[in-house]
Amino acid sequence: MSAGGRRAPRGPSARELTFRPVDPSRWPDFEHLFEARGGPKTCWCMHFRRDEHGRTPRAKGSRKRAMERRIESGIPAGLLAYDASDQPVAWCSVAPRETLVNHGGVDLPGEDPARVWAITCFYVKSGIRGQGIMSRSIEEAADHARRNGGTSLEAYPVVPDSPSYRFCGFTPAFEKQGFVEVGRAGLRRHVMRRPLV
Ligand SMILES: CC(C)(COP(=O)(O)OP(=O)(O)OC[C@H]1O[C@@H](n2cnc3c(N)ncnc32)[C@H](O)[C@@H]1OP(=O)(O)O)[C@@H](O)C(=O)NCCC(=O)NCCS
Repeated sequence: MSAGGRRAPRGPSARELTFRPVDPSRWPDFEHLFEARGGPKTCWCMHFRRDEHGRTPRAKGSRKRAMERRIESGIPAGLLAYDASDQPVAWCSVAPRETLVNHGGVDLPGEDPARVWAITCFYVKSGIRGQGIMSRSIEEAADHARRNGGTSLEAYPVVPDSPSYRFCGFTPAFEKQGFVEVGRAGLRRHVMRRPLV
């Protein structure tokens, strides 16, 4: 504890991290992060995705295999965050929206839907939460989407006391980065948008 009684931050600060898009060469890092203690190894970030047959994978191990096949085939999936020792410590799912299941996204007049990207999930290892890594991930996701031709970034965060969908992030963190609400998705998620051009 610091002199002021606040808990000292553990692990890397958000600014020390390096973000890299997951691709076949980084599959082992993705696997390592998701299978580590507390990792989202039942989901494999397939909640907003379908397998190559357009189906929801349900059998044991099938979500992992479906995600691996998507990454192997070059479908953008998201960003891994690495600490100074080059260990993967966080994940942000960000991809062209049309590669994801539509969970309530909106179409705005005059835009090309193919150039809308979407953030659908965050995961930060438990020991390093509360240090701005989700917020940094939003910045990195916007840069990544813009570099890859995205003109708009959509997200589906919840209010901070929401009882579910917290992995989609929280509305204030998106507001701070220029996102505005354009709709609602289901009971809890707020559809938020930020232009990238
Ligand atoms: C939700 C999560 C991504 C937040 O990551 P984080 O790096 O701790 O978040 P940050 O430190 O960047 O916080 C950003 C903002 O969100 C707020 N926030 C973070 N966690 C919060 C929580 N649990 N409840 C309410 N607000 C929260 C912070 O207070 C901060 O607000 P501020 O900008 O006003 O200070 C992280 O707790 C996590 O990974 N949880 C598990 C999610 C999961 O299971 N994902 C896999 C699903 S299959």
